[in-house]
Amino acid sequence: MSTLTQNVSSEEQHLLAQLNRERMPTHIAIIMDGNGRWAKERGLSVHHGHQAGREAVKRTLEACLQLEIPYLTVYAFSTENWRRPASEVNFLMKLLEQAIEEELDELKQNGVRVRVIGRLNDQLPASLVQKVHRVIEETQHNRRLTFTVALNYGGRAEIIDAARKLAAEAAAGRLDPRSITEENFHEFLYTNGTPDPDLVIRTGGEMRLSNFLLWQLAYAEFISTPIYWPDFDKKELLRAILEYQRRERRFGGRNGSY
Ligand code: IPE
Ligand code: IPE
Ligand code: MG
Repeated sequence: MSTLTQNVSSEEQHLLAQLNRERMPTHIAIIMDGNGRWAKERGLSVHHGHQAGREAVKRTLEACLQLEIPYLTVYAFSTENWRRPASEVNFLMKLLEQAIEEELDELKQNGVRVRVIGRLNDQLPASLVQKVHRVIEETQHNRRLTFTVALNYGGRAEIIDAARKLAAEAAAGRLDPRSITEENFHEFLYTNGTPDPDLVIRTGGEMRLSNFLLWQLAYAEFISTPIYWPDFDKKELLRAILEYQRRERRFGGRNGSY
């Protein structure tokens, strides 16, 4: 083993030793940002940044499996990302398609259930949508980890889609508007069946949600790290979980004696 590998693993060991296994987050959501800046700093095209970002997704998923975290959600493409140059959008769509094709067997072997949230029937290439349906179907019975990919996803679009479904039910006389509650509203969201995230990590240093899981993140702990997404790894994930474990979650109540 090289000195470098030894150092890396001892640092990871050190972080692992500090973890409180009783207070692990059940659901981690990630706003994967900084691919463009990562590439620019290296004099590479933004495509290389996204390619390197794909590797970071794989590393993070593996780390969550090792840490026995049951839910991981990643923001892959927002409803606003269509504003980017067509060549970048096309590259991202191809990359997603390739990733599904190349990772499907390993996802199955690792007991990963894939869910995809977003407007799947709107604007996305048909060949990608077909592969998305295939990965969802072929992994639907897996339970070790639920990996949700937000694709053509917008928090506002999701709430609008829920409102449309509710209004249609009410108009058809199947739903009494007074029966809508915070608990059952969730059933009309794309994330129905998945618990709300406990921790949301944003890489790339920005301090905004950019239309991500607006309903579900109401009480999540938010951590922003300056690390660019392609540089994210297990150690960064461990640092974020440790920071999460130092936070006091009050949910509007009062914990102290004052
Ligand atoms: C995030 O990285 C990836 C997507 C939004 C698809 P960016 O491409 O936004 O990276 P920056 O913000 O330009 O560095
Ligand atoms: C958020 O990143 C969307 C994804 C990670 C898919 P953006 O780079 O699109 O967000 P803004 O433009 O900085 O708000
Ligand atoms: Mg960005």
